[in-house]
Amino acid sequence: MTYRTEQPRTIRLAEYSPPAWLVDEVALDIVLHPDRTRVTARLSMRRNPAAAGGADDIVLDGRGLPLLALKVDGRALSPGEITKTDETLTVPGGLVAGRDRVSVETETEIAPAANTALEGLYLSKTCYCTQCEAHGFRKITFYPDRPDVLAVFRTRITGDPAKTPVMLSNGNKVGEGTLPDGRAWVEWHDPFPKPAYLFALVAGDLALVEDSFTTMSGREVALQIYVEHGNEDRTAYAMDALKRSMRWDEEAYGREYDLDLFMIVAVSDFNMGAMENKGLNIFNAKYILAKPDTATDLDYALIEGIIAHEYFHNWTGNRVTCRDWFQLCLKEGLTVFRDQQFSADMRSAPVKRIEDVRALRARQFPEDAGPLAHPVRPEAYIEINNFYTATVYEKGSELCRMLHLLLGAEGFRKGTDLYFDRHDGEAATVEDFIAAMAEANGRDLSQFARWYSQAGTPVVSAAGTYDADARTYTLDVRQTTRPTPGQPAKSPMHMPMRMGLVGEDGTPLPLRLQGEEQGDTPTDRVLELTGESHRFVFEGVDRRPIPSLFRGFSAPVRLETGLGEAEDLKLLAADPDPFNRWEAGQRHGRRRLLALMGEALVQKPFSGDPDFCEGLGAVLADEALDPAFKALALQMPTAHAIVQEVTDADPDAIFAARQALQAEIASHLKAPLLAAYERLSGAGDYSPDAADAGRRSLRNVALHYLSLLDDPDCRDLAADQFRAADNMTDTMAALATLTNMETPAREEALAAFYDRFKDDELVLDKWFSVQATSWRPDALQQVQTLTGHPAFTMRVPNRVYALIGGFASGNPVRFHGSDGAGYRFLADRVLMLDKTNPMVAARLLPALSAWKRYEPGRRALMKAELERIAATEPLSKDVYEIAQRLLA
Ligand code: PHE
Ligand code: ZN
Repeated sequence: MTYRTEQPRTIRLAEYSPPAWLVDEVALDIVLHPDRTRVTARLSMRRNPAAAGGADDIVLDGRGLPLLALKVDGRALSPGEITKTDETLTVPGGLVAGRDRVSVETETEIAPAANTALEGLYLSKTCYCTQCEAHGFRKITFYPDRPDVLAVFRTRITGDPAKTPVMLSNGNKVGEGTLPDGRAWVEWHDPFPKPAYLFALVAGDLALVEDSFTTMSGREVALQIYVEHGNEDRTAYAMDALKRSMRWDEEAYGREYDLDLFMIVAVSDFNMGAMENKGLNIFNAKYILAKPDTATDLDYALIEGIIAHEYFHNWTGNRVTCRDWFQLCLKEGLTVFRDQQFSADMRSAPVKRIEDVRALRARQFPEDAGPLAHPVRPEAYIEINNFYTATVYEKGSELCRMLHLLLGAEGFRKGTDLYFDRHDGEAATVEDFIAAMAEANGRDLSQFARWYSQAGTPVVSAAGTYDADARTYTLDVRQTTRPTPGQPAKSPMHMPMRMGLVGEDGTPLPLRLQGEEQGDTPTDRVLELTGESHRFVFEGVDRRPIPSLFRGFSAPVRLETGLGEAEDLKLLAADPDPFNRWEAGQRHGRRRLLALMGEALVQKPFSGDPDFCEGLGAVLADEALDPAFKALALQMPTAHAIVQEVTDADPDAIFAARQALQAEIASHLKAPLLAAYERLSGAGDYSPDAADAGRRSLRNVALHYLSLLDDPDCRDLAADQFRAADNMTDTMAALATLTNMETPAREEALAAFYDRFKDDELVLDKWFSVQATSWRPDALQQVQTLTGHPAFTMRVPNRVYALIGGFASGNPVRFHGSDGAGYRFLADRVLMLDKTNPMVAARLLPALSAWKRYEPGRRALMKAELERIAATEPLSKDVYEIAQRLLA
């Protein structure tokens, strides 16, 4: 942990220079002990021919490590011959002058049990594990800890066989034995050169679940999932998802797995979701363990997606890695795109697309519109941990998706083939990726590349005019991007606009642009926008069309359609593009919420909108629609989404408007919602597949609506469902509903749930978070009480994310209580956590990032808490950087 008194340094992309020395091979010897783990590292180093020359000191990173011994080419160096700080160890170039190859051997000692930041080597319960991305390896040993240094690793681990019968590292196990004193050792060898951030070590008493996979070239790969004893029966879904991922990457991208062994370890204490270490993925247990009575449908979907994500990194991240951390989107954006494609293939593609866009809007749009805005490839950072953001990941994926649309599926595949061919075994850049895409397709992508360097969400506004006599439709589109921090002036983007024109009843109309041949005219096509404005004139349009633009959300923009209520309701009823059908409903829902908020302001009684309710009712009744789609269409825009649409946001007014709109929909559609609720009641065995999950999802949306009604037919639905549920999805939906209510059934349910699951940490997280997100006025009080619950601890990230994160990010009304107590609570917890786990502390802080969008009272209260945080000393770089940027 680095403290502010050290004046945090800004690292810049423009200052990149290649390393003066490379590492060909590294031999690690790690003797485990909770307080005194010995780490000896022997580095076979070579002068980098590509380096500029000049200062050829050997600089090794090493954060807070004692140097117990140092040998260069076998000669022990004395402290006077080298320079050592708390961050680096430097062997002066003069000592190795004239030599192109040197061997550097260091010895150090670390204390995994004292490592609460969960970076480097730490203990999760009694299991040793590592997290090295981005800068964890430097907390294990002295090393050039940068991704453009790729080495072959040999790792020897020694431990007490009673405590760590399982000892794992990357690659293949090449030896094992017992020492005369009874300790056990194993040796691992990873033949694929890799950067240090992909190193991993796991040692503990773990249960093993095994399977195997035959690759497309007929090689047999052993698949192993390691979990805590007793959890073996919760690994089947993860194993199945792994096998499907391996097959899919062969079929979709021609990528085969390269080692004979693929291991996954589930640990309880982990800052993030999971980590793609070569051949040894380490997962937050939450994204591995599932059985129907402990995991929800959402958990299953996340497990599938994250298993795929980490597996796909083997090619996009590991075989081709990143030159420096500014290139993070090169592996993350592309890998998210790949996992989204995979999940779309495994499930319903339109539903997956809607969910992904919902997440993008909830997390990335606010980032792009606020003080934390940064390009997909940032140009400067203080703490790289702060750049594992929705912009790098999710917007990064959108950029790949746009390329996929612009180049076509085949063109995109040609591009990735060339990229893999050219850069296998290398550390690449975004430029390398774009160049491969461009060259494989003979396309100029120089304007497209701007997406990686220009922050902010473009706003595209559209206006159309229909000329009935000439049978032409003229569509004008214009794009602008507002300034973001450090980028006052913006240039136009190159983007694909997939679109169609439809008649009032949704009939697709032919799309023939002026000057095009008559003939086989498409009804859905991709237009490319490159300039600030474009005019498209469609000919042969024989009735007034409704434009359906950016179908499938073909570019990450905010679209101002210029459409009115009536047109949106028609698109909701009949747009052939399911995404835009959903989108039209959301647009109208937003319009309604804004209107209701306006009415509240002038204290008018809320007006109704029966046409909209009927429109939603028609979606609900449509036999041809997927229940999962219906569930999404019936849900109104979130409070967070509305905050992005208004100035001087008032969380109470937004909450009141949402409640009013939902109550109106519920009472208007009571009969069909009740009928759907009854009809969908699950019969037969639970399956986590998309079809069954979709039915549960729709039924639980119905439950949510019906529970808003003060109606004898509906009052007991949630309590009854809670008692009858045979799976965690239905249990949690009922519990969430009850938790919002004033009824004795609430306390009973929470107590029963706790009683049943008190020994199950993953389920207990759900119990904490459901209470944190309750909209009852006493929610903050409850959360405060829960911080004193014996099962609560600030040491386990999952628990912190469930309770503190659940409240700050998942409770848009009570977190924003007008007295500022919610903000104060969050700031206190961030400061508390900063002392033990700065990365997790910093990840809580963006809950305050929209502070400038709120009404003056809240704005001042949020700002005051941010200032209090920023003025605290000492403070980690992580929290310091976020607080500074939020206040700038
Ligand atoms: N690289 C991991 C992933 O995307 C995320 C991660 C980053 C995990 C940093 C831990 C620490 O899959
Ligand atoms: Zn990733």
